[in-house]
Amino acid sequence: MTPPDPRGPLAPAERIICALDLPALAEALRLVEALGSSVRWFKIGMELFTREGPRAVEEIRRRGAGVFLDLKYHDIPATAERAVASAGALGVSLLTVHALGGAAMLEACARGRDGCLAPPAVLAVTVLTSLDQAALAAVGVTRTLEDQVLASAELARRAGLDGVVASPREVAALRGRLGKEALIVTPGVRLGGGSQDDHARAETPQRAIADGADLLVVGRPIRDAADPAAAARAFAEAAAQGLRA
Ligand code: C5P
Repeated sequence: MTPPDPRGPLAPAERIICALDLPALAEALRLVEALGSSVRWFKIGMELFTREGPRAVEEIRRRGAGVFLDLKYHDIPATAERAVASAGALGVSLLTVHALGGAAMLEACARGRDGCLAPPAVLAVTVLTSLDQAALAAVGVTRTLEDQVLASAELARRAGLDGVVASPREVAALRGRLGKEALIVTPGVRLGGGSQDDHARAETPQRAIADGADLLVVGRPIRDAADPAAAARAFAEAAAQGLRA
């Protein structure tokens, strides 16, 4: 089984990325195996990658699933370009870079991608959802949060990146700004009625997809479910409803 192409047409079940927010590979692979074919993408973040390294990517790829490597590269252009090329060589399908790295870094990341045998989709993180207006001001950003998100997304688009990671609140505005080709990947989604965890303003998958999100990142609602595969299928069904809306 080969992972789907993130730029191709995606079935509802292919729109769910399960975040492997677990400390060790053995636990992560137990979740991957419990999910079987109900989830086609897994997000590896800093915690798991720092501990387990490229082996984590290889083991998930070996099981036929795709990897979203969420390491949010932010460095000088030459270093970021080579990091993207290295991630591409590992066979990841999607990866993240920080839009705040600037136009030259984003263009270098696009070059790193284009040199890959199987180029991954490179997504820009615009503004971390943990930052509010005051935190932005403290690092010298005087635009409104929404303007900063849109300006960063525009920078990424002009550099030739594939899309952005965005909170559900920003999806509609970003889809309007970026057009239909850009990939929009959205965390912070919850099925109606369930636990919201620490999300002050979680959105439903139906709404995020109807607003224009392509892929949804889901962590705890799948990881912590008694039946993770059933939870994943519920998210896929909600995505299907969003596509029909
Ligand atoms: O909240 P949940 O467990 O579904 O989060 C899934 C993933 O999305 C996590 O890896 C988290 O880092 C990321 N996330 C995010 N921004 C948010 C919420 C979650 O990037 N607002």
